[in-house]
Amino acid sequence: MFRVARRPSATTIPMLGTSLKQTKKGHMYMRRKLTAGNWKMNGNRGLMAELGTLSGSQSADAPEIVICPPHPLLTRAIDATSGSPIEIGGQDCHAATKGAYTGDVAASMIAETGATFVIVGHSERRDGHSESDETVRSKAEAAWAAGLTAIICIGESDAERAGNDTLQIIAEQLQASLPDGATAENTVVAYEPIWAIGTGKVPTLAQIIETHDMLRGELLTRLGDAGTGIRLLYGGSVKPTNAAEIFQAENVDGALVGGASLKAADFQPIIDALAAS
Ligand code: 13P
Repeated sequence: MFRVARRPSATTIPMLGTSLKQTKKGHMYMRRKLTAGNWKMNGNRGLMAELGTLSGSQSADAPEIVICPPHPLLTRAIDATSGSPIEIGGQDCHAATKGAYTGDVAASMIAETGATFVIVGHSERRDGHSESDETVRSKAEAAWAAGLTAIICIGESDAERAGNDTLQIIAEQLQASLPDGATAENTVVAYEPIWAIGTGKVPTLAQIIETHDMLRGELLTRLGDAGTGIRLLYGGSVKPTNAAEIFQAENVDGALVGGASLKAADFQPIIDALAAS
């Protein structure tokens, strides 16, 4: 599905918001660019106006756009974006389909609202709720079973980066968090260095290229052709001021944005930078 006729070099098809690139073997493939906004534990009814603004501002060549509000706002967010290309996702789900799990939400419940994505394995869940790679993998499988696309997050800590362990740590996280059977349709991978989240610190472009190229290689080795189409997002202090530079990296297919996704005036320039990349 992601292979099309051979073309001589990487190019972009703006009308589709899609990158057409060439593998080392000469095959061409497409990955639709994606910007996802993670509202975390922010927002209320009032923030739906921002979604209304975003809904009305998207052009035909916009990348895929997903907003992940807190679960109680999912239905309102679906209503606020109705008729627009903006999709809605949850921020986490339980691995089980139902049962005595007070405070948790099943993937099917998220899907029932009309949402199409769910984030799993965010570092704020891994650290704050002691979630292991195995838990994250089970959650991704639960997301798939409910028909949702799982955005699987991985990323190294400050100490791991300082210890020169980044590549090994995130390769291990990817392999252990990614279920067998991952495809371009059911999975997106987000690389979010923990030290870059909400701090204003961002890896250098060279560091982002290094990690994303390594992750692409891991996906190809593990999944073969399917690894070509899985989108890799960068997350951690993405702002209107740095988005264009980050999107220069060939294996960055978009961004997972926290703080700057809360206001249309901040998120729209990031969407535009991705569309132009
Ligand atoms: P910030 O963009 O606020 O750094 O958050 C990134 C993030 O954690 C998105 O999931």
